[in-house]
Amino acid sequence: MQAHGPMRIVRERTRDAARIEGMTEAAFGPDRMQKTVYRLRDGVARLKELCFVAVDQKNEMVGSIRYWPILISGKWPALLLGPLAVSPALRGLGFGKALMWHSMAQARILGHSRIILVGDPEYYNQFGFRRDLALNLQLPGWVEERRFLALELVAGSMIGVHGMIGRAEPPPRRRAPAQRKSR
Ligand SMILES: CC(C)(COP(=O)(O)OP(=O)(O)OC[C@H]1O[C@@H](n2cnc3c(N)ncnc32)[C@H](O)[C@@H]1OP(=O)(O)O)[C@@H](O)C(=O)NCCC(=O)NCCS
Repeated sequence: MQAHGPMRIVRERTRDAARIEGMTEAAFGPDRMQKTVYRLRDGVARLKELCFVAVDQKNEMVGSIRYWPILISGKWPALLLGPLAVSPALRGLGFGKALMWHSMAQARILGHSRIILVGDPEYYNQFGFRRDLALNLQLPGWVEERRFLALELVAGSMIGVHGMIGRAEPPPRRRAPAQRKSR
């Protein structure tokens, strides 16, 4: 394995945004915006205090994790994890795990109770994400059931939690077409 020097995890910086977009598009494809989870993010501000990047020795971004707020059944706040992506050349070196454990610890410190995601269970099980914890939840659109997972940051925080996952903020207001004055 090639040595890449020490890695650091820092809060996402303004200058990282464009590279994160590029890396996410490469990892998940241009169709990702059509996915159901993007409906929950559209027009909602991400949780900056939970968005982290892994940076290499040159301070370049090589991995990213982001979180958005969501609301289950209009009453249970939760975090929506993702996207998580690591530069293709640097995969398998622990960057993904470091971003996961760091952000989850931070989420717990900040008082969050539960996290939802749509992702590969083969990867996310190791962090405690489980399918059974999401069985009573629905997403506002199609989702591959086996990839719809939840995690309790606080033990028992998914007990009794059920229903439709919704946006944490009302949908963005699309600008109405200019109206002509009629006389
Ligand atoms: C998934 C991803 C974020 C993992 O980051 P990473 O830095 O490469 O992963 P880590 O080094 O922390 O962990 C590597 C381990 O995860 C495993 N792994 C990576 N992707 C996996 C996947 N999709 N399913 C199952 N296992 C996976 C590796 O086999 C490796 O296992 P090991 O520790 O037993 O050797 C990264 O591979 C990536 O960006 N992939 C493309 C986008 C993606 O698939 N995102 C998340 C899944 S929805």
